[in-house]
Amino acid sequence: MQRIFSGIQPSGIPQLGNYLGAIRNWVNLQADHECVFCLVDMHAITVWQEPAKLRSQTLTQAAILLAAGIDPQKHILFNQSAVSAHARLAWIFNCVSRLGWLNRMTQFKDKAGKDRENHSAGLYVYPNLMAADILAYKATRVPVGEDQKQHLELTNDIAQKFNHDYGVEFFPQVEALIPPAAARVMSLRDGTKKMSKSDPSAQSRIEMTDDADTIALKIRRAKTDTDTLPSEVEGLEGRPEAKNLVTIYAALADMSLAEVLAQHQGQGFGPFKQALTEVVVGAIAPIAQETQRLMQNEDHLVSVLRSGALRAQAIAEPIVTEAEKLVGFVK
Ligand code: TYM
Repeated sequence: MQRIFSGIQPSGIPQLGNYLGAIRNWVNLQADHECVFCLVDMHAITVWQEPAKLRSQTLTQAAILLAAGIDPQKHILFNQSAVSAHARLAWIFNCVSRLGWLNRMTQFKDKAGKDRENHSAGLYVYPNLMAADILAYKATRVPVGEDQKQHLELTNDIAQKFNHDYGVEFFPQVEALIPPAAARVMSLRDGTKKMSKSDPSAQSRIEMTDDADTIALKIRRAKTDTDTLPSEVEGLEGRPEAKNLVTIYAALADMSLAEVLAQHQGQGFGPFKQALTEVVVGAIAPIAQETQRLMQNEDHLVSVLRSGALRAQAIAEPIVTEAEKLVGFVK
């Protein structure tokens, strides 16, 4: 059975893009993979996080993943900082990875923007830690949204260079599992921007804890154009907001874009938004409700993460110790 590793930053409440791009896939992949799912709190602090909020968001995120269907008995759910192997391997990878490689990472450029000099060194070497997350488990398949593809290519470059430098075949190559639909869900306020849990505007995203009224309001306020829905998929080109809403509908209703348009062509956004609200509420509300229930018992959530960390450590520790020996560290 192939091993899966994937992670999500507890830097906010997971949003619909996280769900469609990653979490929904994680749930399905549990059937025929050995899965390790990680709340990457060390990645989160590459930008400032209020400590109390980081803690509560980590627990909320654990609750959301359990509510969405992650099985912490059969698989592993834990927070990154609880397993020190991640930091140790990340340091080795900081020394394997090249500045030129990191300079090409578009996510750093997007996040740091023009104010590059004022961002943390952690944000810059973030992809090296991500490579360490995956390779500490020698995981071979990584389910992510499209925005993480470049980081996984870097992971493969790091694995290859490590193997080459130390003359071994130690780390495997990894395969990105990117969903065929909704791999990049866009902001509800701007169809050219990715939906993100760290966007300053909560109106730009549907959060996994939103209730039905909040979802309805956010969809009603979502930016659109003034045209009706086209009959052909090509008619969505150049209409990013329309395309995004149709994509969300299709992904949640398990339909193709063409099937959605066949049902809704010629409609204005008023009625389409109502139909979309029903589909989104149908998918999200049960998860939000179960999350509320799980949040009542913080001790249980902490104990799920602790037990996951112990099992994660049992896998990662021997792999990272072996990597350290290959580097020449006395162990
Ligand atoms: P993060 O926390 O930004 O997002 C978690 C997952 O959600 C996907 N995603 C999206 N998919 C579609 N549309 C969107 N608008 C959208 N926004 C986010 C992301 O692609 C991701 O799969 N670097 C990672 C976390 C990480 C990781 C790892 C992932 C750390 N170590 C190792 C895989 C393996 C991140 O920031 O994800």
